[in-house]
Amino acid sequence: MTERTRDAPEADSPPERPAGPVAELDGVTREYRSGGETIAALADVDFAVDPGEMVAVIGPSGSGKSTLLNVLGLLDVPTAGTVRLDGGDVTDYDDEARTMARRRTIGFVFQSFHLVPMLTAVENVLVPTMFVEGDQRPRARSLLERVGLGDRLDHRPDQLSGGQRQRVAIARALVNEPRLLLADEPTGNLDRDTGRNILEEFERISAEEEVGVVSVTHDELVTEFTDRTVELIDGVIQ
Ligand SMILES: Nc1ncnc2c1ncn2[C@@H]1O[C@H](COP(=O)(O)OP(=O)(O)O)[C@@H](O)[C@H]1O
Ligand SMILES: [Mg+2]
Repeated sequence: MTERTRDAPEADSPPERPAGPVAELDGVTREYRSGGETIAALADVDFAVDPGEMVAVIGPSGSGKSTLLNVLGLLDVPTAGTVRLDGGDVTDYDDEARTMARRRTIGFVFQSFHLVPMLTAVENVLVPTMFVEGDQRPRARSLLERVGLGDRLDHRPDQLSGGQRQRVAIARALVNEPRLLLADEPTGNLDRDTGRNILEEFERISAEEEVGVVSVTHDELVTEFTDRTVELIDGVIQ
């Protein structure tokens, strides 16, 4: 980890919470160049998610869904257009500022969970809190209890089922109290019942904590739970 630069926003400054969308893309294009060819993974995309809103992003493979999630999550930078978080323009942030903004505002749930194999459930949930002051263990424990893993706190990922790992990943995504939760195929590796439980958890988080939730999915079950579905084809919102 690099040290925080003077330009980066302070982690402990009070978050600004204006009434508008928690995240917003305005005319966003993301081009990739490969072998002399240019592919627009996203082409002039306008997209916004409000606090407490749940959005599903669907579309065929290669249509730009992951790119959309990565741009929203400040893991990727658009070729053109504007990205706003909580109303603030973050498009031209440097890597350091982007990392700080991501840490403060965004939680990710990746399809393959990305848990650290050597760490227990509690320790995995604590990973994003390493720059947060104070003992975060009680919060990590209570989040795990909330997703039904109160009796699995000290289990390592290989001692947990797929659904339990996914729930550890969700607790980890929530530990820094994000305003925006981004999920890539959140039910992809799960059986129906577990998938439903996870989606009910998303619904609760979204409603109770005013978190905007964006899920990329192939699964029609997800669209049953969301307020709105956005379809991408060839990088264009339909
Ligand atoms: N790092 C990359 N380099 C080159 N092309 C990429 C890269 N990432 C994605 N693409 C291309 O951008 C398009 C959209 O990809 P992606 O966002 O991963 O789609 P999806 O998640 O819907 O399957 C595809 O044509 C893909 O090949
Ligand atoms: Mg993808």
